[in-house]
Amino acid sequence: MTTQQTLLRDAMQSLNMTRDVFAERLAIKRRTLDTWLLPENSNEFRAMPSVVEKFIQEILQQDARNQKYTQSAHTDLASRMSYNGKPQLISVEQFNRESVEELLAIAETMEPIARRQKVTRVLEGAVLGNLFFEASTRTRVSFGTAFCRLGGSVCDTTGFTFSSMAKGESIYDTSRVMSGYVDAMVVRHPDKGSVAEFADATNIPVINGGDGPGEHPSQALLDLYTIRKEFARLDKQIDGAHIALVGDLKYGRTVHSLIKLLSLFRGIKFTLVAPTALEMPAGILDLVASRGHTIVQSQSLRSGLQDVDVLYATRIQKERFSGEEIEGYSTDLQVNLEMLDSACNPDTFVMHPLPRDSRAGANDLSTDLNRDPRLAIFRQTDNGIPVRMAIFAVLLGVENQIQASLRDATWKSPTHIGPYDAIFHRLQNG
Ligand code: NCD
Repeated sequence: MTTQQTLLRDAMQSLNMTRDVFAERLAIKRRTLDTWLLPENSNEFRAMPSVVEKFIQEILQQDARNQKYTQSAHTDLASRMSYNGKPQLISVEQFNRESVEELLAIAETMEPIARRQKVTRVLEGAVLGNLFFEASTRTRVSFGTAFCRLGGSVCDTTGFTFSSMAKGESIYDTSRVMSGYVDAMVVRHPDKGSVAEFADATNIPVINGGDGPGEHPSQALLDLYTIRKEFARLDKQIDGAHIALVGDLKYGRTVHSLIKLLSLFRGIKFTLVAPTALEMPAGILDLVASRGHTIVQSQSLRSGLQDVDVLYATRIQKERFSGEEIEGYSTDLQVNLEMLDSACNPDTFVMHPLPRDSRAGANDLSTDLNRDPRLAIFRQTDNGIPVRMAIFAVLLGVENQIQASLRDATWKSPTHIGPYDAIFHRLQNG
């Protein structure tokens, strides 16, 4: 038969509690616990009441349930979306529909923090290395602020010129060195496949912030999150939706990742509008078609958009051209107010990964939609924060600690972030 002493010792060990903490949990004095823990033949020994023994059994059962939940919730998602068995995010191909929906549900729990209503410190002490070897504003800053809002700190390097890569250092060496300094890395690099090389050289979480014309998985996740949120407002579903991707579909990494991620859903109609020289790569079209979606390709924006739910415009990626002649969009490929009014239905909304090229002749997404609530681009950029927080939380295994860690924010912030923000922008979460 198990003695009272063994029972108590085993319980404290299994709960990972000291005598003080255990006594507090049982709401008894530490001295009382000490007497229960003495050998039975000792003069000071006291028998523990049976009701306390029952209470300890309950605590142990509850703890076992919690551990099971934490382990399955954590190892499940981080391992199901792992890259070569590591908690890294290199491609959207790491997701299936279930895991992507789980990640977006975690992003929702970050909303009060992103909206500056709550604060958390779950990543206190952790350091992010932001390595950007290509131009960036929103991806670099939003990854950085997402990490800070989880309680961590950020170190940045920008451009090749000021990094040791300018001295001929390899990706392997850079990645291994950084791993000794930081707890996670976000990397943007002009070569397709380069961020995977960073990931192979380390065991810490690496996130692809854009590898040349390859992929941009965090952008696709925040785009999907935006589409889902806008659809909820309009009472629409992603399954069966009609989504138009417009512009540079050849070099635009955001649309490569987005169409692959959307193809995890069912029965989507994709209208792909691009100049002939900038069409979506055949390999991606094959993957999407093999999942049973409808693809319509066109060089004109005016036709076939009457029932489109989302119009996703992109910038011409001139910096990636290898001999293509295109300078900017022709005016008939420009998404603007007149085009939206004449070719689409009234609840079609417009997205763009940004930056949009606002220089004359570029004919990128027009600024004449700036006051129009159908323009979702800044709601989209705002969504980058909760989504990138969710990515970090999952890869660093703290997503189950968020809820219990929340405290009220102490500073004041505006109810509408931008001067033209439509009223519904902030309505959903108060
Ligand atoms: C894009 C990128 O860098 O891929 N922007 C972004 O990260 N939001 C799109 C672009 O540069 O046109």
